[in-house]
Amino acid sequence: MKKNKKNINPIWGTNFSKQTNPLLEKINSSIDFDKRLALHDIKASQVHCAMLKKKKIISLLEHKKIFRGLTKIKNLILKNRFKFNQKYEDIHMNIEMELHKLIGDTAGKLHTARSRNDQVATDLKLWISESIKDICASLETLQKNIVKKANLHVYTIMPGLTHLQSAQIVSFAHHLMAYYEMLKRDKKRFLNNLAGLNECPLGSAALAGTSFPIDRMFTAKNLGFKKPTSNSMDSVSDRDYALEFLSNIAICGSHLSRLSEDIVIWASDQFNYVSLSDDFSTGSSIMPQKKNPDSAELVRGKMGRFAGNFFSLLTTIKGLPLTYSKDLQEDKEPIFDSFDNLLLVLKVINGIINGLKINKNEMFNACKKGNLMATDLADWLVINYNMPFRKAYKITAKIVGLANKKTCQINELKIEDLNLIEKNLGENLKKFLKIENSINYKKSIGSTSPKEVKKSIQIAKKELY
Ligand code: ARG
Repeated sequence: MKKNKKNINPIWGTNFSKQTNPLLEKINSSIDFDKRLALHDIKASQVHCAMLKKKKIISLLEHKKIFRGLTKIKNLILKNRFKFNQKYEDIHMNIEMELHKLIGDTAGKLHTARSRNDQVATDLKLWISESIKDICASLETLQKNIVKKANLHVYTIMPGLTHLQSAQIVSFAHHLMAYYEMLKRDKKRFLNNLAGLNECPLGSAALAGTSFPIDRMFTAKNLGFKKPTSNSMDSVSDRDYALEFLSNIAICGSHLSRLSEDIVIWASDQFNYVSLSDDFSTGSSIMPQKKNPDSAELVRGKMGRFAGNFFSLLTTIKGLPLTYSKDLQEDKEPIFDSFDNLLLVLKVINGIINGLKINKNEMFNACKKGNLMATDLADWLVINYNMPFRKAYKITAKIVGLANKKTCQINELKIEDLNLIEKNLGENLKKFLKIENSINYKKSIGSTSPKEVKKSIQIAKKELY
């Protein structure tokens, strides 16, 4: 490579007479963020180089020089001593230029039978696959903590809500285990995503494939893929695996956001079901009495960027003609941002759950209001008096109406009052309407009954350990 007096790009600038405008340099340079692909890029280059040697496209000696050069660069990067240069646009050219500095013109042989287009798709697939493993590990840690907490609260009862209005009594464990299920599906979605990432784009070259007799299966296998991609044009164009990754993060983020919202509500003075530990709360600079659940609010708040990042890439890709266009360089920042923030919020929510103090008494006392056993009562009438449910509903509604009139709860009505509504109801009913019994009345699979909740905890433990 000749010294470039005019400071024109030494790799692609041969026929260019003017140096790059600083504005283009600024908008075109991705090195500040795609340096995160460095180790994957080197790994892919080393395998590519081994394949070129195997197919005798480069000599043994050339392979050795290139391979060693790349290893040196890897070590520089690992030791934080690599100087990334804006002028060389992206990670691929930064590494190639450094290799040239280290081993001279042999470096130019590495780019035989490949292009940055298949290189970047390969690096990204490798990076996302690795990141999915990190996310799944973090998801599991959170799931374990949720199960541990749930195990302690199978008999801790609280009002279950619909429309944010008191509905029926549930156990706190049941509420927590609902999130276990959501996270389990999140994990499954990420693992499915992984399955779609197992075809290797490298060897597709710029868009049309290459005239060199390369061994794409060798490259794919040695990079940990199952096989090569089937269409070179598709390989360099699409980022559906990245969209899937971003949508999986957004869906998982929505679950964490809802859990945070529950925690924010529970921690309010009006509910007071839980207290966040001090190390996950903040105070107010003006109101000395305050303890705010900022940690949970921030987890909830991250949902905005998770959704935004998914939409950002989806919008970038929509309408791009085949094959590669530089718009695709916009894929990386949303991906990195969503990944970093998901890992962060998974850890934060885990910390919140760990330190969460459960105010059992408040939860129990809240069950005494709102006639939460009205549905239990209607079911009981059907079972014990062989009534159609609609009739039982009406009788129950009358009982609730009477309690409202007397400004008391249904279980506080006198036996005589109940008997006025339906003969001989009173005595049996009074025994039935004990709030601590409500969860035991549930019989269905997946219900809040202690038997079912214990079963789901058992299953979860088997899945996790
Ligand atoms: N930095 C580019 C990207 O991230 C790499 C591919 C560049 N290809 C090209 N033909 N200019 O998309």
